[in-house]
This record gives sequence, structure tokens and C-alpha cells, in this order.
Amino acid sequence: MATTVRVMTKNQRDVDFAMKMKNHVKWNQIQADWVRFMDFDPEGCFIAEMDGQMIGTGTVTTYGDKVAWIGMIIVDENYRRHGIGRAIMLACMDYCKRKKIEVPKLDATPLGNKLYLTLGFVEEFLMDRREGRGGSFEYAKSVRKFEKKDLDDVVKFDAACFGAPRPHIIERFVGEYPEIAFVSRDGDGRIDGFLAGRKGLNAWQIGPWVASSNTTGEELFKAGLNFLGDQPVFFDIVAVNKSILPLVCKYGFKHQRPFVRMYLGENKYPGILENIYAISGVEKG
Ligand SMILES: CC(C)(COP(=O)(O)OP(=O)(O)OC[C@H]1O[C@@H](n2cnc3c(N)ncnc32)[C@H](O)[C@@H]1OP(=O)(O)O)[C@@H](O)C(=O)NCCC(=O)NCCS
Repeated sequence: MATTVRVMTKNQRDVDFAMKMKNHVKWNQIQADWVRFMDFDPEGCFIAEMDGQMIGTGTVTTYGDKVAWIGMIIVDENYRRHGIGRAIMLACMDYCKRKKIEVPKLDATPLGNKLYLTLGFVEEFLMDRREGRGGSFEYAKSVRKFEKKDLDDVVKFDAACFGAPRPHIIERFVGEYPEIAFVSRDGDGRIDGFLAGRKGLNAWQIGPWVASSNTTGEELFKAGLNFLGDQPVFFDIVAVNKSILPLVCKYGFKHQRPFVRMYLGENKYPGILENIYAISGVEKG
């Protein structure tokens, strides 16, 4: 049977299928997430088909030509272990090549990890998803709501920490969910942290959450949790940041599932991982 991989479109049939696959593996994304992937990289989101039947998905989110994240690699359970996942990955890697991306990256589930190793990806570090609930907290006056005028400073601060500029992600999240977008400025008025979030199917997802100190990280976290009240919350943390584990435990956030950060080629843009409190999401780094 012939397998083909084609570009995903915003056509409702494609989006409905993508959501069906995502629901199948019980992930947290909503339809708006798929639309965002296609807005950012219209030629970088894929559907695998076998004899005309849709059976798998994959996305690439590029950050200029420095790094890109491969995500949403899902194959229908009935068609696994027939090379479909590999075919989708090859389409994603080929897109990265055409876009001249220096370092393709991804955050792998244990199922994906083995496959990506065979494609040349190298493990960088362990990550995990944490889950808990918001609450009622007071937070420092240095933390306030994100305003349009903060954008350039935040993008500059974030680019050093993430490893590449991602203005499109930050602008889109704070534009869509201004109610959970916060910045922190130090005594000299310089940005020393920010936190964004978005709605998911099962829980709100916090991220990116980036700060230059543990104190700032905690104050931003309290602001985010305070907005969320009693609602369920997920976020994805990197084990390299030694401050994050005691912090999330202090606020009662429990381990949900593991991931592994992986990269292809030379890891030229690792960022400042000690400043990353939560990534924007495993499907986009
Ligand atoms: C991870 C996932 C996408 C892999 O999809 P897949 O279509 O099964 O992937 P492939 O068939 O290309 O490769 C999977 C395995 O099947 C093997 N395989 C491929 N073709 C085969 C064949 N014809 N006969 C037997 N085995 C085969 C591969 O060698 C690979 O083996 P390994 O796991 O020992 O390395 C799929 O398991 C999935 O959707 N999981 C749930 C979502 C998820 O976790 N996604 C990853 C996100 S990072």
C-alpha cells in the first residue's frame, strides 16, 4: 500500500483529522493550536495518507533559520510500526533542510525517542510535564500585565535564553491570552522575566515562562497561578534548571509524564537553560 506525506491545510477536513489524531493520544492541544502551526509555517505541517486515507500528522515550527521544532508526530494506532512515523519525520526534516534550518530540534515522548535516535537525533536532556492547579497568591509589584510596549524588550531577553528570537510565538500568545501574560522588570527597568499561557483541552498550559533569577521566576509563577484560580494547569520543565524542581514541588505540581529534548547536527543554539522555567510546549520548544 502506498504511503504519501502531503502538506496539511486549514481545510476543515484536515483540521478535523488533526484534532481526531490528537484526541486519540489524549494530548492537550485545541484546534487553535493547529491553526497557529499552519499560520507560522504554512508549508511545514504534514498529513500522512495511505491509499487516500489520512493516518498521521506532523508539524515544524521554525525560528528564523537557526532552530526549528518538529512536533505533533502522531500515527493512527492501527498503522503503527510500518514506517509511517519515519516517513512523516523525513518530510519534516526535508522541510527544515529546504528552510536551511541550522539545528532541527524536538521534545520526544518515550515512543518517539527510539525512532528519532535512528534518524540521527541526539539526546540533550530530560524534561517533564508537571500538573497541578492555580490558587490565590499575592505577587511582587515588579510583576505586571504584559503590555504591547514590552514586546521588543521581552523578545530580546527571551532570544538569549531560548537560543533564537521567537517574536511570532510571544506576540501571538500574549495577543490571544493577554489575561495570563505577565512581565517582570528589575530596579533599572530592564526585563528580567516573563510568563505567558494558553488554553488547552484538559488544562491551561503555562509557557514560555522565562526568568533570570529564582525569585523573579517564583513571582511570575504566582501571578500566573493567581489568574488561574482553581483551574487545572500543565507546564513542561527542563531538568537543567536546578531551581525549577523545588519551586514546582513547593506549589504542589506533580510529575505527569517524561520527555527528552533532542537535536540534529551540532547543538549551536542551546540558550541559557537555567533561565527557562517552562518551555512554550513540547511541540514547539
Ligand atoms: C511514535 C510514533 C509516531 C511512531 O510511529 P510509527 O508509524 O509506528 O513509526 P515507524 O513505523 O516509522 O517506526 C516505529 C518502529 O517500527 C519499526 N518498523 C518500521 N517499519 C516496520 C515494519 N515494516 N515492520 C516492523 N517494524 C517496523 C521501526 O523500526 C521502529 O522500531 P523501533 O521502535 O524499535 O525503533 C507512534 O508510535 C505514535 O503515534 N505514538 C503516539 C504519539 C507519540 O508519542 N508521538 C511521538 C511524539 S514525540
